[in-house]
Amino acid sequence: MTETTSFAPGRVEILGNHTDYNGGVVLSAALQIGITAIARRLPASQVQLSSEGIEGVETLNRSTGLARSGKWIDYPLGVAEMLARAGAEPGGFSIHFSSTLPHGAGLSSSAALEVATAVALMRLYPFDLARMDVARLCRRAENEFVGVNCGLLDQASSVFGKKDHLVFLDCRSETVDAIPLPPHLGLLIINSGVKHALTGGEYNERREQCFEAARLMQVPALRDASTAQLDSTPMPDLVKRRARHITGENERVFEAIEALRQGTPEALGALMTASHRSSIENFENSTPELDLLVSLATSQPGCLGARLSGGGFGGSIVALVEKEKSQQIQQNVVEEYNARAEATATALLCEAADGAIPA
Ligand code: GLA
Repeated sequence: MTETTSFAPGRVEILGNHTDYNGGVVLSAALQIGITAIARRLPASQVQLSSEGIEGVETLNRSTGLARSGKWIDYPLGVAEMLARAGAEPGGFSIHFSSTLPHGAGLSSSAALEVATAVALMRLYPFDLARMDVARLCRRAENEFVGVNCGLLDQASSVFGKKDHLVFLDCRSETVDAIPLPPHLGLLIINSGVKHALTGGEYNERREQCFEAARLMQVPALRDASTAQLDSTPMPDLVKRRARHITGENERVFEAIEALRQGTPEALGALMTASHRSSIENFENSTPELDLLVSLATSQPGCLGARLSGGGFGGSIVALVEKEKSQQIQQNVVEEYNARAEATATALLCEAADGAIPA
């Protein structure tokens, strides 16, 4: 193939906050919005990258290997480099990207950029990888090439999403399952319009605190500990609260799956709201703006529950809502928030959508 177009969706985290790098479990959904890559082969080792909304074309020569530049192109370059290391032909290519994901909303545009690149390059220079290997390779590009210590959640959600289903990801076994979402429910995503600058540092600090708690409990990862075990282990209060968020989230994910299987989605909503409370009390990764959005959303009729989604420290909340009431909920929350906060909220009603690589 000399020319191809790929699409990879953004994702929303439904439950299971910061569990991925602790070997835990997560529920997420791929969205109908994401990143499109139009790619074509170029001679030998030429690489050209461009993006809608960013002026100019980045031109590189990959004959001596690709190196980190500190710019947005590191995401696609990292993927190209990891594919080459995995044995794919390191041919020349050009890719032009465009996005329907709102900027800075915390819907994983970086994972979508990586996955869209991987799918396009694997078609241009035919190379076969299992779906989970694509997610792993994209995560490795972000960890080792871009230099961001994320877990597997974002890339796996973008690859494995399924229309009208939640993605259940087990980060210990690195397996996924699709859990049907009742058709009358929608995912209302509301961006707080506030993003804290220190996200990278705070994310890594939380990671270290979780690893410290696992060391003190003498378990390989917090996935191996229950909240009851944690409570009976002596450790500094701060580390214990960080760990309680993780053990609680893992437990809530399993409860939520059970509730969806039993046909009681209200329980999923309540677990989402409980997750947000734990973010406030234990993990301290919320903000006053996210708290305001959650409290406004959960007081609306037809909203089953709401919580911050993704890393935290700003970005968006996700609310589980009855579709027929979603317009009203959205309008009420945004109006009230914009009147009370020193920021502007933007809302998006989403449905769980297919991932980048069909089953
Ligand atoms: C970010 C990271 C994910 C995950 C979430 C929190 O989105 O990229 O890997 O850790 O935060 O659950």
